[in-house]
Amino acid sequence: MNEPFFLVSCSPRRGGNSDAAVRELQNALPGSCLVRRVAEAGVRPCVSCGLCASHPGSCALDGPEDGAAALFQAMFQARLSILISPVYFYHIPAQAKAFVDRSQRWWACSEKPGRGKALSAVFIGARSRGEKLFEGAERTLRYMALGLGMEWREPLCLYGLDGPGELAASVEGLERIRDFAGRLGGAFS
Ligand SMILES: Cc1cc2nc3c(=O)[nH]c(=O)nc-3n(C[C@H](O)[C@H](O)[C@H](O)COP(=O)(O)O)c2cc1C
Repeated sequence: MNEPFFLVSCSPRRGGNSDAAVRELQNALPGSCLVRRVAEAGVRPCVSCGLCASHPGSCALDGPEDGAAALFQAMFQARLSILISPVYFYHIPAQAKAFVDRSQRWWACSEKPGRGKALSAVFIGARSRGEKLFEGAERTLRYMALGLGMEWREPLCLYGLDGPGELAASVEGLERIRDFAGRLGGAFS
C-alpha cells in the first residue's frame, strides 16, 4: 500500500453521514486514500485472555477470520489515519470500540509500531450542542494513539447531523471537512 492517508469509516450504517464525510475527505486530502469500513472488517472483540500481557504485540484472536491485523497494518503504513465516526451514547459505535480494544497488544510494548505516524478523527453527532458530546470518543482515540506510538491530532467535531443525508446536504459541514482536510493533510502529503 502506498496511500499516504488511511480512512477508517466507523458507522455500521451504509450511505450515512460518515460515508459522506469519507467521500469529502477523499476529495480534499492532498493524496490518495485507502478506505475501510470497520463494521464490515470482521474485528472480534478482545476477551482479555492475557496473551498480549506475556507476549506483547501478539493477539490470540488474529487469524484468517479476523480483520483487526489488516486494519492495524494499514494504519502503520499510512502517514495519517483518520477515524470517521458517529457518536453512539457519547462514544464510538461498538464495532469501532472493538477495533480500539484490539490495540491492547501494543500497550505494554516498548517497540511502538505506529511511531512516526499520526492519528486523528472526524466525529459526528445528532445533538446540536453539548461540550462533552465528543469527549469520551476523543479520549479513547487519544489513548489508542498513545498505545500505538502514534501522534494524536485534534479531531473535527460536527454537531447536528442525524438523518443519513444530512451531511451531504450541509454546505457548512462539507466546507468544514474540506478545511480540516486541507490543514491537516498538508502536513502529511
Ligand atoms: C445507537 C445510537 C446511539 C446514538 N447516540 C447518540 C448520542 O449519544 N448523541 C448524539 O448526538 N447522537 C447520537 N446518535 C445519532 C448519530 O450520532 C447520528 O445519527 C449520526 O449522524 C450517525 O452517523 P452515520 O450516518 O454515519 O451513521 C446515536 C445513534 C444511534 C443509532
